Amino acid sequence: MTKAILIKDNIYWVGARDYNSRNFHGAIFPIEEGTTYNAYLVIDKEVTLIDTVELQFMDEMLERIKSVIKDQPIDNVIIQHGENDHASGFTELVKHYPNIKAYASKAGVLCMQKQYFKDFPYIPVKSYDTLKTGEFTLTFLEMPLIHWPDNMLTFISEAKIIFSNDAFGQHIISSRLFDTYLSWDYCYQKAKDYYANIVMPYGLQVSKKLMEIAESGWEFDMIAPSHGVIFKSYLPQLISAYQEFSTMASKPKAIIIYDSVWNNTQQMGEALAEGLGESMEVKIYKISITSANIIMKELLDSQVVLIGSGCYNNIMAPSIAGFIEKLKSMRITNKKAIAFSSYGWFPGILADMNERLVAAGFELINSPLLNQNYAPNEIDLEKLQEEGKIIGDSFK
Ligand code: FEO
Repeated sequence: MTKAILIKDNIYWVGARDYNSRNFHGAIFPIEEGTTYNAYLVIDKEVTLIDTVELQFMDEMLERIKSVIKDQPIDNVIIQHGENDHASGFTELVKHYPNIKAYASKAGVLCMQKQYFKDFPYIPVKSYDTLKTGEFTLTFLEMPLIHWPDNMLTFISEAKIIFSNDAFGQHIISSRLFDTYLSWDYCYQKAKDYYANIVMPYGLQVSKKLMEIAESGWEFDMIAPSHGVIFKSYLPQLISAYQEFSTMASKPKAIIIYDSVWNNTQQMGEALAEGLGESMEVKIYKISITSANIIMKELLDSQVVLIGSGCYNNIMAPSIAGFIEKLKSMRITNKKAIAFSSYGWFPGILADMNERLVAAGFELINSPLLNQNYAPNEIDLEKLQEEGKIIGDSFK
């Protein structure tokens, strides 16, 4: 039998552990070890649930809830986000607790009406509205676009906990709920994975909200997100990491992403990497054999992104075209890009790649050496290596 886990006096984790997912949100985010859907039960004069879980895990969540409150009803549910991984369970929850009051942001109410029950009497709340449940006061803060327009967080001042929903999430699944048992480096890498793959387009909103939280004067010693572990040991590091992520702060680092059938484009990328590597860290990935998760994470803190493609008849590799399209949605700032290509009889794809990279928000670095007719020879590769060195030095 699954049970609730006490995280602070009268506050329990009642989420679910999804050990077997290897893809998150469709196939956009490959994950290694599953994830958790965190929900929290606040016991007070009124009983309040913060978020639900994905529908298929509702039995597990309800069992954990009942391990604390038995047959007592839940008075309130706070729907911090209408996306399915947190809110699809609501449809099941209301079967068990038909008189429950459901609170959501205004955008959350719309989202719930359109996704689930049109006629449920949701109660809209806005930033700094409060709900007194007895001893506890729940304060809401809207977090639009972190990760959908409807997201909000809930702060319980008396317990000093911020329930942050998607913000500060990570895909760590462990029988231990807290960061205390893990190294900061591990938590940082997992938080970075999550940010790069889920939150990256919304850096501006993240920066503003971090500032708002800092200015709110809220005292908190725990951040309880909706995925992964609860933070209490690494709070300053976590906030500072989010500040770094939200500005796409980069270090002396290049990432090279390419696709190549006959290794011509691959050789070009590797020659550029040799030269760049004299002055910066270089990561190089063949896109068709690399997890999108790794690429997005490594791109987040790179100064320069190099993208290579062979010519397929008269177009770039569809894998590269799709990747550049994805970058367009990421609202890239403060990064330079370089495209490189090998072609047989149609030299036009480099110009197409350059155009798309500019449209995706990159500042472009260009050179005639980057468009290679057929296979590069030794002299071509030496020149590319030298070009890589010059580009690397330009970042010093
Ligand atoms: Fe964890 Fe935006 O869902």
